[in-house]
Amino acid sequence: MSKVLSLQGIVVFVLLTILLGATELEAASSKSKVKPVKQETVTCKTRHSRCFLKKIKCPKECPKVKPSDPKAKACFLDCYSPKCEAVCRYHTRINHLEIKEQGCAPLVDVELCKTNMNMTFFLLFSTARKPNCKGTGAACYDPRFIGGDGIVFYFHGRSNEDFALISDTNFQINARFIGHRPIGRSRDYTWIQGLGLMFGTYNFTIEARKASKWDSDIDHLKFSYNGEDLIIPEGHLTEWNSLDSELQVERTSSKNSALIVLQEKVEISVNVVPVTELDNKIHNYQLPLNDSFAHLEVQFRFFGLSPKVDGVLGRTYRPDFVNPAKPGVAMPVVGGADKYRTSSLLSADCLACVFSSENMSEDKESSLNIAEYGMLDCTSRAGGESGILCRK
Ligand SMILES: *[C@@H]1O[C@H](CO)[C@@H](O)[C@H](O)[C@H]1NC(C)=O
Ligand SMILES: *[C@@H]1O[C@H](CO)[C@@H](O)[C@H](O)[C@H]1NC(C)=O
Ligand SMILES: *[C@@H]1O[C@H](CO)[C@@H](O)[C@H](O)[C@H]1NC(C)=O
Ligand SMILES: *[C@@H]1O[C@H](CO)[C@@H](O)[C@H](O)[C@H]1NC(C)=O
Repeated sequence: MSKVLSLQGIVVFVLLTILLGATELEAASSKSKVKPVKQETVTCKTRHSRCFLKKIKCPKECPKVKPSDPKAKACFLDCYSPKCEAVCRYHTRINHLEIKEQGCAPLVDVELCKTNMNMTFFLLFSTARKPNCKGTGAACYDPRFIGGDGIVFYFHGRSNEDFALISDTNFQINARFIGHRPIGRSRDYTWIQGLGLMFGTYNFTIEARKASKWDSDIDHLKFSYNGEDLIIPEGHLTEWNSLDSELQVERTSSKNSALIVLQEKVEISVNVVPVTELDNKIHNYQLPLNDSFAHLEVQFRFFGLSPKVDGVLGRTYRPDFVNPAKPGVAMPVVGGADKYRTSSLLSADCLACVFSSENMSEDKESSLNIAEYGMLDCTSRAGGESGILCRK
């Protein structure tokens, strides 16, 4: 009962946040009659995209790509959508399932919401900037994954070891696991502490800093690029780009959240969170009191994976993949630790790894010709009717 109540609390809070954002926006737009806000333009540098190098004007409702008000809607162009159209989306976390339950009424765009299909898309965009642990491509908790086929599975790995989550011919993403093994248990409880990306001869890491006591007022994110520490100042929407803009890192809240974009390959949304005392109790982790086990919640959204893609999560996106996790089992655990273990966070030396640093630009013909995998909810009407393919 108390859980239900707190959930409602969150919903109310989220909706209030949206409403406040909307009111502020209305205020802004009535002011704008006096002095119109310049509508920025957006474009896509992705060659596959319908919008490739086209200049698309932002909607009047969200003229700016990076509004200074974190609660305002931002202009966004999804380069992988079949439409080449800039849309408005919130940076604020909105869980579309919660909204579905609450109905359209509390939302700004009630008309849009009523045309159900568009609303689902709108909300998918809104959530896209923070990880949705219930969505495809998620890796959260003690790691619980949701594969490309939508099936939930657990992969325990081992504490203080590294595993390939995605290994494709032209990029690889490993995860470092941290954890704890209570006395008398046969395996470690594990969480994802860091991610290591390799693409061409470049590399990038994002990690959660160790903290004995969790304090959400402190930033726990740590980045590196090509072996050097990368400082991305705290602050909403602070951004860093590699010289060639192939890699982009943006903070999606002032602390502890980021969105990483590797052009034409993957978008990764990340939060740093602790293991809470409540989780510790419920799951009987028996964690030592001097460690908050700060770890990452992650959601991946892939573009143009090759049919050779492998890795704990990557293989679930292969067209021929048959999930060993049995449907109907409460906690299907998949193995394969020996196939996916790498010697470090930035090595591609696992038995199943297919990454090569020589494969910079992928042969486009060989990549699966599907616009996007990842954030689509293929069980809802939206997936089927939008013209975007859903794999079953
Ligand atoms: C979705 O929105 C587009 C315009 O943005 C409109 O043409 C289309 O009819 C809408 N779809 C539905 C199901 O309402
Ligand atoms: C990361 O990239 C840099 C620059 O290319 C390279 O010097 C370094 O060895 C790489 N790190 C690893 C672990 O491969
Ligand atoms: C907690 O204590 C153990 C042993 O007493 C030590 O090994 C570990 O590093 C400590 N953890 C932190 C986060 O200080
Ligand atoms: C590069 O990728 C292709 C498939 O796209 C693969 O056949 C080839 O072996 C890879 N090259 C290297 C050096 O690994």
